[in-house]
Amino acid sequence: MAIIGKDIDEAIRLLSDGEVIGIPTETVYGLAGNALNTDAAAKIFEVKNRPSFDPLIIHTNSIERFPSYVSEIDERVYALAEKFMPGPLTLLLPRKNIIPDLVTSGLDNVAIRIPKHPLTLELLCQLDYPLAAPSANPFGYISPTSATHVNNQLGDKIKYILDGGDCQVGIESTIIGFVENEAIVYRKGGLSIEEIEGVVGKVKVIEHSSSNPQAPGMLKSHYAPKKPLVLLEKNQAIDQSKGNIAYLGFQHYHADIPLENQLLLSPNGDFREAAKHLFAYMRQLDAMAVDYIYTQLLPEKDLGRAINDRIRRATVKE
Ligand code: TXA
Ligand code: MG
Repeated sequence: MAIIGKDIDEAIRLLSDGEVIGIPTETVYGLAGNALNTDAAAKIFEVKNRPSFDPLIIHTNSIERFPSYVSEIDERVYALAEKFMPGPLTLLLPRKNIIPDLVTSGLDNVAIRIPKHPLTLELLCQLDYPLAAPSANPFGYISPTSATHVNNQLGDKIKYILDGGDCQVGIESTIIGFVENEAIVYRKGGLSIEEIEGVVGKVKVIEHSSSNPQAPGMLKSHYAPKKPLVLLEKNQAIDQSKGNIAYLGFQHYHADIPLENQLLLSPNGDFREAAKHLFAYMRQLDAMAVDYIYTQLLPEKDLGRAINDRIRRATVKE
């Protein structure tokens, strides 16, 4: 198992040796390595068991460092960055050659973000390279929102996890790029579409589909627990003959399922609280002695859109 601690110097020592470690962010925990070191990037793909065609996000601590890694930043990008960074936003921008091919899977754009977590910001501030960090879960499984989640899944493959407590946002960053002047959201996440549109106007939102992936990392089956997650339609009856059932609800318990098998994302109907709990609750229900986890979609607005995206993708088994 990895050591879990708050020792930034140890984190720096390992990273500068080309090792990969777990780091906290406000969205989910990352599996981090020196983004400018191809061997470290290769280690990330290996530890995560991630296909090399699925590129990595790089993390830095300030907008002032962007010009070292990307070649073009227009005013609209600055407006977004200044308003929402640090925060749960990732920008796709034309990369400079200093970023290894492996990190972007050969693409011309690099994904870049500034995580809003004091420990990781302090770490990034002390490094003279950015950190490449995908979510610290084995490919296809639920993202980790605590150091313990990381340790349970990857603890035998890494030496150290920087402990920043529970993630406050709880779902991954929103990814936005620009094609011929159009702003495109490639992944719904912890920053709502409404907040982004308040700064750049109407954006195009790409919906995920297994038959028509428009960008790497848009594979539909993702974020999934090990038990089958079944999506219930409104007022749909539950087939009790199938076995023991758990339920992940938004505000209200389900009348036909034992209460001890149920968790509510936010009894008050608060989307932020729901996002914060989503992955941890999926894990809790996954660990129960049940055969299926039933769930329902949230209202399709605010962070409900990103939460529904994760639920839809987790319910598809391929
Ligand atoms: O909140 C987050 O973004 C977390 C934390 C750790 O920062 N990171 C994260 O990374 O979710 P990951 O690797 O699990 O998801 C990154 C997504 C992938 O779907 C990947 O395909 C996409 O970003 N991506 C990365 N670089 C890209 C690029 N150059 N062009 C298009 N998509 C890219
Ligand atoms: Mg991920």
